Amino acid sequence: MYLTHIAAALANSSVRTLSQQEELPLLRDHLLRLDRTSRHDRFHGFMDDSFIERYAEKCANDGTTIIAFFENGVVRGAAELHPPDQSPDSLPEIAFSVESSVRRRGVGSILFRKLITEARAKGYKSLRITTGAQNEAMRALANKFGAQLVFRHGESTGTIDLTKQDQTELATTWADSTLNAARTVANMNRAYWRMLLRMYGGSRAA
Ligand SMILES: CC(C)(COP(=O)(O)OP(=O)(O)OC[C@H]1O[C@@H](n2cnc3c(N)ncnc32)[C@H](O)[C@@H]1OP(=O)(O)O)[C@@H](O)C(=O)NCCC(=O)NCCS
Repeated sequence: MYLTHIAAALANSSVRTLSQQEELPLLRDHLLRLDRTSRHDRFHGFMDDSFIERYAEKCANDGTTIIAFFENGVVRGAAELHPPDQSPDSLPEIAFSVESSVRRRGVGSILFRKLITEARAKGYKSLRITTGAQNEAMRALANKFGAQLVFRHGESTGTIDLTKQDQTELATTWADSTLNAARTVANMNRAYWRMLLRMYGGSRAA
């Protein structure tokens, strides 16, 4: 039952890096779909559409890597890996957003895993994450990948040491197996419906 639930969320889904200029509208439209609370959590209080449009445009031009979760061709989640030269202590900043329709189904974890792979490929040793002090969801996600968050100036901030394999690998194995299990269940469901349609003479593709 639980796997069927996850399968419903992850069927027809994929995760990949967006090309910077051409796919800017996909990131922008995803961020614009976030509800008020999510915008507040993601942008530390900045919530209006024009801010989000300028923000997405900046990401497309400043070397930020965007890893996107697609469901039925629509971006429903994104992980951002910002270049290190943009932060005062030269640590690459990371940020996440998942639309409420697909939350708590492992999407944030899958994006986190891909982001870590990408960051390692770029040779980064450490990442910084900053989130609102009350943001339980982001704190849980960050902790799962080994972040040590401390409370500072009304925010929770911390670093992730990419040279330490164990915590992240543990979590990523979970993310992978969840996606694989979900795909298996989704395929089984498709096969089942195809079989039913054949039995009752239906012609619609399952
Ligand atoms: C934070 C966010 C990205 C999490 O995405 P998600 O797809 O729901 O994350 P996952 O399903 O992979 O969950 C990751 C872990 O966090 C936990 N978690 C998720 N939401 C939670 C919540 N509201 N409260 C407590 N724990 C939560 C999950 O239980 C899971 O832990 P587990 O694997 O041990 O069970 C999503 O809630 C979001 O986009 N929030 C709005 C934007 C935001 O706050 N961004 C952060 C600023 S950088």
